[in-house]
This record gives sequence, structure tokens and C-alpha cells, in this order.
Amino acid sequence: MKPPRLFRHPIAVLLLGGYGLLIACGDGDKPADVPTTPPLTGAEAPQPTPAGGDTPAYRTSAECGRCHTEIYAEWKQSYHGRAMSDPLFRELSAEVNKEECIRCHAPVNLRDSGWDTPVARSELRDEAISCLSCHQNGGNVSGPHGGMEDAPCRPVQDPDQIDVVKMCFVCHNQHDTGNEWLRGPYSHEAGEPRERDIRTCLDCHMPEVERPLVQGGKVRKGRRHTWFGGHSMKQLKKAADVDVQIEALPAGGHRFRVFVTNKGAGHAIPTDARHRSFDTYLLLRDAQGKTILDPTDPQQQDRAHLAKFRKFYRGSGKKDTQIPPLARVATLGEGKGYLDVPEATSGTGEAWLVYRLTPRDVLNKASLKAGDEDDIGRLWRARVVVRVEFRFGP
Ligand code: HEC
Ligand code: HEC
Ligand code: HEC
Ligand code: HEC
Ligand code: HEC
Repeated sequence: MKPPRLFRHPIAVLLLGGYGLLIACGDGDKPADVPTTPPLTGAEAPQPTPAGGDTPAYRTSAECGRCHTEIYAEWKQSYHGRAMSDPLFRELSAEVNKEECIRCHAPVNLRDSGWDTPVARSELRDEAISCLSCHQNGGNVSGPHGGMEDAPCRPVQDPDQIDVVKMCFVCHNQHDTGNEWLRGPYSHEAGEPRERDIRTCLDCHMPEVERPLVQGGKVRKGRRHTWFGGHSMKQLKKAADVDVQIEALPAGGHRFRVFVTNKGAGHAIPTDARHRSFDTYLLLRDAQGKTILDPTDPQQQDRAHLAKFRKFYRGSGKKDTQIPPLARVATLGEGKGYLDVPEATSGTGEAWLVYRLTPRDVLNKASLKAGDEDDIGRLWRARVVVRVEFRFGP
């Protein structure tokens, strides 16, 4: 675990202190249907436990959600809220019977383990990564604002709450995502001259929003608890761009090379989990419009597949081919990144960048029909994230 460096730098503190103003962030990303409930009246509101000791006023996220309705709805839909019910997690953890899996998917409060290796909760495991996992501070809850000490949940201010090296690294550095960000162009540690303004994990995954924290409360600057990632088409589209280089071959036909640029992720893509991948594919039509290479045809799919970008499973013997921030590449060793097609003299084509949550997500006509709606609950399909059309030949 790296030492929490973010707040040791006076400059970082200054910059972070001002990031709300300095950095264009917060695009208002919002899950589709955040329910609004009427303000709570006395009797409906949960009663806090008396102050004192290490017992917080409320224990479950649903209790927090009775007052913090919007944040609760966002969290509930997010993959932090789903970390124990996610079907893929249930399958790979033998229906949650592997004890070693629980510590990051349903941890006790992270401050208690000193922002180091999380510890598994022994109870309330369905709560997954709960409000208290991130907010409990003894008998209090921590927040970024301060000055709300009279509120029933007993909030206290704690700068650690916005220190991403503490908040996010404990779980998201097992595949190096945290370090990729620290080494990359968006961190406070990037060399001068900077290629990009500082953007932390929170800037890109918890977009800024102005709203009351509780029904009927004062409007404040806060952040959405959405954490959109690989399940969100909108977030994936921010990550990558595609461009195509076309060369006529001396013996006839053309060479098609497809480049991918990591234009918007603060770390390498695909991010984090080893089962994710980005793949490039080529579709070609002749001058009459007849398809001559079709990535959804099982017989042609291997030929139409140009490159794979992925952090492969340990022990696979394969080299890591994730794309670093801002890099533009056609291949990093898995696939040639181009295809020579002698029969392609003139016509049109498309380059596809396809995202897979798992290696078994198949690319076929049904998965394409699913379209590019931002449906974060839909699993098990390969999705086209970027599609670039082009023309070739005379
Ligand atoms: C060190 C913390 C940690 C431990 C321990 C851990 N995980 Fe995870 N897990 C994560 C993080 C962080 C993610 C999110 C990564 C991502 O989104 O790419 C994740 C995501 C997953 C996913 C992806 C879910 C999806 O929808 O695609 C699966 C499946 C998973 N973990 C299974 C397991 C299993 C099985 C174990 C036990 C063998 C385990 N995890 C132990 C931190 C952990
Ligand atoms: C009975 C209503 C109620 C419940 C239940 C409740 N809170 Fe609060 N919470 C408030 C109020 C009121 C504020 C202050 C809002 C304001 O002044 O804008 C607040 C503020 C906060 C803050 C902001 C603190 C800061 O300084 O930035 C956090 C964080 C917080 N609550 C977390 C939680 C968590 C976690 C739970 C569940 C364990 C919870 N709350 C349960 C009413 C509640
Ligand atoms: C206690 C461990 C833990 C902490 C702390 C944590 N995460 Fe996660 N995160 C996870 C796990 C586990 C998953 C995957 C859950 C699943 O899919 O089953 C995940 C998923 C995600 C995703 C992907 C959602 C998707 O679409 O698959 C993003 C983005 C994310 N986290 C960002 C963050 C950020 C930013 C922070 C810091 C504020 C953070 N996380 C803190 C464990 C953690
Ligand atoms: C993965 C960690 C994580 C989880 C889980 C989490 N929060 Fe937060 N929360 C944060 C961070 C980080 C901030 C600080 C954001 C900022 O800079 O404003 C925050 C801020 C807040 C605030 C202050 C207002 C704001 O928007 O910044 C409230 C209130 C709050 N959270 C309530 C909750 C509640 C209620 C839940 C559960 C439904 C919850 N949080 C779950 C990490 C988390
Ligand atoms: C400049 C914006 C930006 C910053 C900064 C950033 N991310 Fe991301 N992140 C993205 C984009 C875009 C994606 C979607 C691409 C993908 O999933 O590969 C993403 C995806 C993810 C995922 C999804 C993985 C999955 O399997 O679904 C996780 C987890 C994640 N980021 C964690 C973090 C953490 C932790 C930090 C801080 C150390 C961070 N991100 C900083 C933009 C950013």
C-alpha cells in the first residue's frame, strides 16, 4: 500500500482545495430514474441511537437513505451497492462462499483498518460496500463539508473523505488502477508541463452536483454516488476514440489499420478487472454494398478481429495489453492491429471498438441489436462502443 501522499503536498492541497473551481468537471451524469420521496416528518424518520462510543447513529444504508434519498438511490443502483448481488460475483465466489472475497465486496468501515487491507464484515453482508464502509468514523459519519454537527447522523468533517489515495486505492489498486492514475497525466504528481489538468477519481466517477443533501435541506455542492464504469455505455464512450489508416497494397487490395486512443480515462483501459477487454474489428463492403467481411459471422470473426487489449489472467503467460492514458495504438502485441484484404479494391467499411465485461460475452447480431443505451443493469454481451465508417479505393 502506498503512503497516502495526496495531502502531504502543500501544492496538492491547494490545487485540490480549488478543484471544484479550476477543473471543468461534473457532467451531471445521473442514473435513469432516481425516485424522489416527500420530505420526512418526525415519526417516519429513523430514530438515532444515543451518541457515544463507536456506535454510529444509524447502521444500515436503507436507514441513511430515509433522509439522504437521492444519494441512496444512486448508491443502490451503483456497483458498490450491488457488489454482493452482482450475478458475476455470485458465480465466481461460489455463491459468496469464498470468505476471501468478502473483504472488498462487504467491508467493515475502512477507517478502522487504517485505509489498508479491508476487513470482511461479519454481518449485514447484503449491504455490500455500504454507506458506513466509506463514511463511518467511530460513532460519527465523516463528510467533506463540516459545520453540520447538529444533524442526527452526527457528521464530522474529515479531509480523508476526499483523499482518493485512501478512499479508492484500498480496493482499486489490486490491479494497479490507482498506481496507473498516480503515474499518469491526471494526477497531482504528473510532471511539468502538464498535459492535462488534475482530475481525481472523484472528478470522473462522482460528478459534481448542486443539491440538498436531505429533503428540504440547503442546496450544497456535493457529488453523485454513481461510480459509472464498464457497465455504463456513456462512461465507456468517454474512454476511447478510433481512427483508421488505409493503404493500397502493391499487388491489389488494401491494408486496414485501426488505432485506438485512450482519450478520457484516468488510467489504462480496459480498467481494473482482468476479465474486461477492448477489441477492434473490421467490417467491409464492396462497391456494390455487399458485405465481404462480417465480424458477426462466426466463420469470419477471427479474420475480422484485429487486436485485443486486456490485462490477462495471472499465469496465462500473456503480456498486459491495456492502453495507457492518452496513448494511441493499433496493437500492443495481441493481434496485428491491421488486416490485408486483397479482394477489397473499392467500397466502404466500418471499424468497431468492442467492449466485453467477460471473455464469454459473444459478439453476434443479437448483442449488436441491444444498441448503445446506457443500461448499466444489462450484462453478458459484447457491445460496440465506437463505430467509425470509411471509404476505400477509387
Ligand atoms: C482487494 C479487494 C478485492 C478482493 C479481495 C476481491 N475483489 Fe472482486 N473486485 C474488487 C474490485 C475493486 C472490483 C471492481 C473492478 C472492476 O470494476 O474492474 C471487483 C470486481 C469483481 C468482479 C466483477 C463484477 C462484474 O460485474 O463484472 C467479480 C466477478 C469479482 N470481483 C469477484 C471476486 C471474487 C470471486 C473474489 C474472491 C476470490 C474477489 N472478487 C475478491 C476488489 C476485490
Ligand atoms: C434522520 C435523518 C438522517 C439520517 C437517517 C442520516 N442523516 Fe446524514 N445528514 C442529515 C442531515 C440533516 C445532514 C445535514 C444536511 C445539511 O446541513 O445540508 C446530514 C449530513 C450528512 C453528511 C455530510 C457531512 C459533511 O460534513 O459533509 C454525511 C456524510 C452524512 N450525513 C452521512 C450519513 C450516513 C452515512 C447516514 C447513515 C449511516 C446518515 N447520514 C443518516 C440527516 C440524516
Ligand atoms: C471497499 C472496497 C472499495 C472501495 C473503497 C471503492 N471501491 Fe469501487 N468497486 C469495488 C468493487 C468490489 C466493485 C465491483 C463490484 C461488482 O461489480 O461486483 C467496484 C466498482 C467500481 C466501479 C465500476 C462500476 C462498474 O460499472 O462496473 C467504479 C468506477 C469504482 N468502483 C470507483 C471507485 C472510486 C472512485 C472509489 C473511491 C471513492 C471506489 N470505487 C472505492 C470496491 C471498492
Ligand atoms: C465508496 C465510498 C462511498 C460510499 C459507499 C458512500 N459514499 Fe458518500 N461520499 C463518498 C465520498 C468520497 C464523498 C465526498 C465527495 C465530495 O468530495 O463531495 C462522499 C460524500 C457524501 C455526502 C456529502 C455530500 C456530497 O454529496 O458530497 C453525503 C451526505 C454522503 N456521502 C452520504 C452517503 C450515503 C447516504 C451513502 C450510502 C447510501 C454513501 N454516502 C455511500 C464516498 C462514499
Ligand atoms: C479523467 C477521468 C478519469 C479519472 C481521473 C479516473 N477514471 Fe476511472 N474510468 C474513466 C473512464 C472513462 C472509464 C471507462 C473505461 C473503462 O471502463 O475501461 C473508467 C473506468 C473505471 C473503472 C471501471 C472498471 C470496470 O471494470 O468496470 C474503475 C474501477 C475505475 N475507473 C476506477 C478509477 C479510480 C480508482 C480512479 C482514481 C485512482 C479513476 N478511476 C480515475 C475515467 C476516469
